[in-house]
Amino acid sequence: MLIIGTPKEVAKNENRVAMTPQSATDLQKLGFACIVQSGAGAAARISDADYRDAGVTVVRSAAELWKQADVIAKVQAPSTAETKKMKKDQTVISFVNPAENKKLLDAAKNAGSSLIAMDMVPRISRAQKMDALSSMANIAGYRSVIEAGNSFGRFFTGQITAAGKVPPAKVLVIGAGVAGLAAIGTAQSLGAIVRAFDVRPEVAEQIESMGAEFLFLDFDESGSGDGGYAAPSSPEFREKQLALFREQAPDVDIVITTALIPGRDAPKLWLKDMVEAMKPGSVVVDLAAERGGNCDFTVKDEKIETKNGVTVIGYTDFPSQMATQSSNLYATNIRHMLSDLTPQKDGVIVHDMEDDVIRGATVVHKKKITFPPPPPKIQAIAKAAPKAPEPTPEEIAAQELAAQRQAGIREISMLAGGTLLLMLIGAYAPASFMQHVIVFALACFVGFQVIWNVSHALHTPLMAVTNAISGIIIVGALLQVGSSNWLVVILAAISVLIATINIVGGFMVTRRMLAMFQKS
Ligand code: NAI
Repeated sequence: MLIIGTPKEVAKNENRVAMTPQSATDLQKLGFACIVQSGAGAAARISDADYRDAGVTVVRSAAELWKQADVIAKVQAPSTAETKKMKKDQTVISFVNPAENKKLLDAAKNAGSSLIAMDMVPRISRAQKMDALSSMANIAGYRSVIEAGNSFGRFFTGQITAAGKVPPAKVLVIGAGVAGLAAIGTAQSLGAIVRAFDVRPEVAEQIESMGAEFLFLDFDESGSGDGGYAAPSSPEFREKQLALFREQAPDVDIVITTALIPGRDAPKLWLKDMVEAMKPGSVVVDLAAERGGNCDFTVKDEKIETKNGVTVIGYTDFPSQMATQSSNLYATNIRHMLSDLTPQKDGVIVHDMEDDVIRGATVVHKKKITFPPPPPKIQAIAKAAPKAPEPTPEEIAAQELAAQRQAGIREISMLAGGTLLLMLIGAYAPASFMQHVIVFALACFVGFQVIWNVSHALHTPLMAVTNAISGIIIVGALLQVGSSNWLVVILAAISVLIATINIVGGFMVTRRMLAMFQKS
């Protein structure tokens, strides 16, 4: 049985922990034994006793933990001191930032351990449950609004009180990726007027569905790159974008910037003159501070106030500030990664380098640096398919005529076939049977024609109708089920079964759909 160990994070101001009592319980079900270093969860408000209650062994020192564990799960990339504790055939899972951490990759390679980077999990649907970058960005987006509110001297929501009227705060979110959308949702739920901008036009719908306003830029260029990320904009686009922001600056109270382009410094978007045009008391929160910041005034990890009274926040540790929440989500991401690494759920790691997700996240394996990975076999986020050339009106008319002709031939042959079949049955079967068969055939035909032409948007009300029809079928079948003819009994029983499945399924689907609109 392999042992999974989580040490106390050594980085300054890191409050998160990679294993929680809940994730440990799940890991034990995968066949692993769990150990933590004493005090590992203290900053996330998880005591040693909580871990012990979940069946986790608490060891005293980091040295002991690294020695005992076959798999190390942690948050931050191993420090130089920690790399010295790595051992042969050990698997270490953490954030790595492999493109800028060559020394760490070499150290893992020399130690003979495997290194799995949670920040390299490819963005394919199957891997969403392991996507730690998204879980943390979601928290950062939420926290950025709370932090902005902390420095902002007014309400978010508008109010009319006996003491006067308070206008709602206006929040501008630049970059509507995972963090941006979380910020939009939070600001919106606090009652602010929210506007948002992104270079990827496909996010407009997401922004608007959250009740915010998408600032539209009339420019024929899409900023969409690969895998759902943005591509650098052209200088002309950038100028237009800055002009739009300049217009917004005197009007908005809070600006939250999250714009990033993979592998590059953050683009400068909220410039000095824009900050200077803002009202005193306004707040800018720069979530791109780690990569140099989107705002000219941003100082990494600091909160500053400009001469005109605008607060600019460049903190980079938002997820760590909400350590209980972020540890829960991160530990769950790790648990899912380990679940993929343990296909038999027997506590044995199978490092399948043919698996897109495991291959993508593995940066060192079997004494080899395996970063960068090849592109995943499954395309990440589908890029907009290239448009086929528009057909000319003549081509459209010719296509329509051909389709009509084909449909006509199909209908005539079906009718002829049906008539022949009926005549054949009529020649041999009794008259009462014929009556029933004709009604049955007509019902099938009319039903098919009606249902086939219903548009997708109306499929839900249609389901209610099919439920009613199934009810009628059940009544009919129940009347027949007592028949003395065994064939009728069997057919009636099958009808009852199928109609029941239809009714129960209809109710289940309706319930799930209704649940999507319920606030929990
Ligand atoms: P990110 O952190 O790299 O970028 C944040 C946002 O900044 C992006 O929306 C980007 O378009 C925007 N941006 C870049 N340059 C800009 C500029 N000059 N002006 C305005 N905005 C600019 O990206 P993030 O948030 O990590 O993810 C981006 C997208 O990836 C998501 O919206 C989603 O569609 C997709 N995604 C898919 C996942 C999956 O299927 N597993 C998981 C996570 C994200």
